[in-house]
Amino acid sequence: MSSSPPKFKAAVIGSERLQNLKTTFELKYGGPPVFYACAPGRVNLIGEHIDYCGYSVLPMAIEQNILAAVSVNKSETIQLANTNTTYKDFTVSCSEEIAIDRANPKWYYYFLCGVKGIQETFGITRLPGMSCVVDGNIPPSSGLSSSSALVCCAGLVTMEANQKSLSKVALAEICAKGERYVGTEGGGMDQSISFLAEKGTAKLIEFEPLRATDVQLPDGAVFVISNCCVRMNKAASSHYNIRVVECRIAAKMLAHARGLSFNRLLKLAQVQIELEASLEDMLSLVDEVLHPEPYSREEVCKVLGITSEQFSTELLSANTQDVKHFKLHQRAKHVYGEAARVLHFKNVCDSGPAESIQLLGDLMNQSHASCRDLYECSCPELDQLVDICLKSGAVGSRLTGAGWGGCVVSMVPSDKLQSFWRAVREAYYLPDSCRAAIVEQSLFVSKPGGGAAIYLEE
Ligand code: GLA
Repeated sequence: MSSSPPKFKAAVIGSERLQNLKTTFELKYGGPPVFYACAPGRVNLIGEHIDYCGYSVLPMAIEQNILAAVSVNKSETIQLANTNTTYKDFTVSCSEEIAIDRANPKWYYYFLCGVKGIQETFGITRLPGMSCVVDGNIPPSSGLSSSSALVCCAGLVTMEANQKSLSKVALAEICAKGERYVGTEGGGMDQSISFLAEKGTAKLIEFEPLRATDVQLPDGAVFVISNCCVRMNKAASSHYNIRVVECRIAAKMLAHARGLSFNRLLKLAQVQIELEASLEDMLSLVDEVLHPEPYSREEVCKVLGITSEQFSTELLSANTQDVKHFKLHQRAKHVYGEAARVLHFKNVCDSGPAESIQLLGDLMNQSHASCRDLYECSCPELDQLVDICLKSGAVGSRLTGAGWGGCVVSMVPSDKLQSFWRAVREAYYLPDSCRAAIVEQSLFVSKPGGGAAIYLEE
């Protein structure tokens, strides 16, 4: 079993940021916080849109995080405020059931997802009063997992406020489940790395059972994150859930074609396990069984022998009820191909051949092409930025996170960092005044950061 998140003295944060947060807290609530909880965002190096299919992914935590100052009190309410005043205050009574309005995503719902997850785990009927101020420095809607970091931070806050103890693995699973209250059917990568990250190492995250293994990145290259400045909020659109649904249907169609009982099979990885096949075999099976033309509902129902009603209730989610066409071949091809690239990436890191930087870069480039062409989760700005990064000296460059906007991650030989940075700045950011205004927080080097932690006032 994994250990609980670490506890440190608040003095170790020692920063101006902590001091400002404390001052905001005192001004707002008239007393000092008793503890802080912190959960990092992440950048996924490779393995996009495959966690919810049951496949391993390879992220690292970034230094940017969500930090909350907290006091536990007799107010009988949960009071939430944010140092960024565009995010409005919110208060909910501890006697009310926590309600999350999926149709109207607000910042504090992510916090409430974490609270609700812990409340349900322990069957807490009445939560204690809590006052919190949240301070985040992860760029929002940028594919760096600011929302999951908020859920994880809130889960940790609620665990500590209720004097409970949970392992990092349990917290990650509870927060991944909790976040689904906002309506997105996420796979668990973001919450897992937020809790299981360790400074200095990327992680291979495997699911069922959830575990994390160190992946030592090669010397001689750095990872640079660049934001394409198109905002993507996955809870506000159905793109993400459509992909989850397409993968679910593809899994059932493949299972059915091979005579498996498809009722309980929901993930593409489960089909591979049942068939005891390799990923190469699965790629051939996709070509053999699924046609590249989009499938209609009627066709899927006919093949699987299910009613349209079963299709709606068992396969679709609330915000995908109106989808008419499903690109099963392309999505399944991406998933099995990407799952193989993750394992290849990990093997190259472990064996460290002389040409590893080039090999890893090639895998990242293949991953981007697959996200763009087969999974269709890129956008013109992301593609343009990837091209610019490659022309500016990156050996590999790809969209990271859910896509449809947000960030690109590039692998850059250390000796080319300065010229890379200058060239990307000039080609992508400076020509556009909106992008130029935020270039400092949009283009930065990222090293593997540590996981979520609690900080106690002495
Ligand atoms: C989001 C989800 C993750 C994962 C990525 C895509 O970040 O929260 O679970 O599916 O998209 O790889």
